[in-house]
Amino acid sequence: MTGFVTLEGSVAIISGAGSGIGRASALSFARRGARVVVTDLDIDRAEAVAAEITDGGGKSLSVQCDVGSLAALEHVRECALGEFGRIDIVMNNVGVIAMGAPETLPLEGWERVIDINLLSVVRSNLTFLPLLLSQGGGHIVNTASASGLLAHGYDRLPYVATKHAVVGLTESLALYLRPRGIGVTCLCPSGVITNIVEQITSYGEPGTPRSPQYPVVEATVVGDLVADAIENGRFLVITASQVHDELLERAHDMDAYIDSLTSSETS
Ligand SMILES: NC(=O)c1ccc[n+]([C@@H]2O[C@H](COP(=O)([O-])OP(=O)(O)OC[C@H]3O[C@@H](n4cnc5c(N)ncnc54)[C@H](O)[C@@H]3O)[C@@H](O)[C@H]2O)c1
Repeated sequence: MTGFVTLEGSVAIISGAGSGIGRASALSFARRGARVVVTDLDIDRAEAVAAEITDGGGKSLSVQCDVGSLAALEHVRECALGEFGRIDIVMNNVGVIAMGAPETLPLEGWERVIDINLLSVVRSNLTFLPLLLSQGGGHIVNTASASGLLAHGYDRLPYVATKHAVVGLTESLALYLRPRGIGVTCLCPSGVITNIVEQITSYGEPGTPRSPQYPVVEATVVGDLVADAIENGRFLVITASQVHDELLERAHDMDAYIDSLTSSETS
């Protein structure tokens, strides 16, 4: 069974940690005594977050990393081991969005979102899992989305599809890793105040799906929820309880559920 990871004294690697949820998680982990390897495509952002941690008395390292590159992730692993001598927590957090109508959103939009949202997690597994398995302990956090549990966004099908894939991959991984002493958390936030709009590529005007507007939370709230989940060995983190209620409604009668979401659009 999983031995829970205590953040105090641990070493955590977070991708996309220069902004939003990744940044908030980095700061939360550091407040609880973790040494944090802050990685981001944008090195200036990563350095700024690492400086926030060291200014607050913590220990941190910034490394530029494009999660689209296996070599870049391997470089992060070597930098982390070189600086801190160990790795306990890996948070795979980068996500991008392609928006467009299902009948016209081009293949290159799909390919980019699959590469960054899904294959980045595969690259991380190849890079870090052998180490965590050999030490028989650690924790993986994969940032999916409420869009990985509920399929509202027909204007962003690659995002919905890849986030569903991340949820499935992460659940399967939990079944494999927990008996081997490694905790797994799947983060499925609803709206969070971040810079996520910068990660959107739009292809035309797809129209806006009607979807429930659940409460939006600050990124700091999410960072603390992730830290709690690691320390308590929890799998699922959601940020709006309504997602749980809606999942129950969908499981109870999926046809009635889909009728309820589409009837207002067809009438
Ligand atoms: N903000 C929300 O409402 C929300 C809701 C559900 C899920 N999420 C998920 O949370 C995660 C983090 O998003 P956020 O809202 O904090 O966004 P954000 O834009 O604030 O932060 C994302 C960071 O990722 C970096 N980045 C982009 N491409 C990269 C790449 N190829 N390699 C490395 N870094 C890269 C960016 O430079 C940026 O610093 C994403 O996976 C997103 O899908 C966000």
